[in-house]
Amino acid sequence: MASNPLNLRRIGVLTSGGDAPGMNACIRAVTRRALWHGLEVVGFRHGFCGLHDSDFEALTLRSVGNIIQRGGTVLGSARCWEFHDQAVRERSASLCRDSGVDALVIIGGDGSFYGGNLMHQETGMPVLGVPATIDNDVYGTVYTIGFDTAVNTALDAIDRIRDTAQSFERIFFIEVMGRLSGHIAVDVGLAGGADDVLIPERPTDIEALVQHLREREKESTMVVVSEGKEEGGAFEIARKVSEHLQREYRVVILGHIQRGGSPSARDRVLASLLGAEAVDALMEGYDCHMVGSSAGKMVRLPIQEAWEGRKEIESRVIDLIRVLAS
Ligand code: F6P
Repeated sequence: MASNPLNLRRIGVLTSGGDAPGMNACIRAVTRRALWHGLEVVGFRHGFCGLHDSDFEALTLRSVGNIIQRGGTVLGSARCWEFHDQAVRERSASLCRDSGVDALVIIGGDGSFYGGNLMHQETGMPVLGVPATIDNDVYGTVYTIGFDTAVNTALDAIDRIRDTAQSFERIFFIEVMGRLSGHIAVDVGLAGGADDVLIPERPTDIEALVQHLREREKESTMVVVSEGKEEGGAFEIARKVSEHLQREYRVVILGHIQRGGSPSARDRVLASLLGAEAVDALMEGYDCHMVGSSAGKMVRLPIQEAWEGRKEIESRVIDLIRVLAS
């Protein structure tokens, strides 16, 4: 049994920001691991909003049953704008303490960790972050919960688009999610055999793209565009390309379907391991840390690294996508 230097008796868990498949598996792991440690657990509804609304429920062994396979989050999520206000954060921490909550597990992305860290700095409330976002844009972990499922969902759509693209010899510009990062686009592009992938991290050379697409005349062509690429997204890229290329094109925005659905096996495994690791870390006195997965192992690192570090995308992978498409 861990030493429990933070003297925890009851912890809270919340899901914040864009929901991601696997969040429920993580809530389940946090709850059951905490109960195993002899702690009580409460779940706050709708992210940080649940803190200042004192909107929570006790989580038990049974109440987190039958959720490991479900998409979304049973606790609900939110981007809680009120939490930008220091007075709200202070009141939230004090309401937490009034409910006997000694520490918080935050399941979300780097923005949620940033908010949790501010509350910790101002009030001393212990926080522990578990990276969950389909965007995979959190530094310090190779994968975030939800990324694998989102990539597989997008891939399934792309395989279907390929069928119709082939029948008409059209160019398809397919926009995937990712906020300001191209991780989804790169994995989907490589796995889906796309002809090119355009991501926010790399400037787009329209002329080179046009040249590349010219070489593929009379063939189905698929260009994956990450949503944060530029104003106008895939529509704007398609418009620019069409000025040079007299070929029929279509634009598909995959959108929020990428956020839904039953989590993949990989996401359930990751969510279970990270959720349990977060509770173990708290029980060992880790505060203001995030847990992650790196080189096949669980890691713990200071939470600010999540937004201070930058998770790079290797240029050679994007170059390889073009080579393999030739
Ligand atoms: O962060 C997850 C994400 O799905 C991003 O990929 C996307 O930019 C954003 O959330 C969409 O947010 P909302 O659901 O608020 O439109």
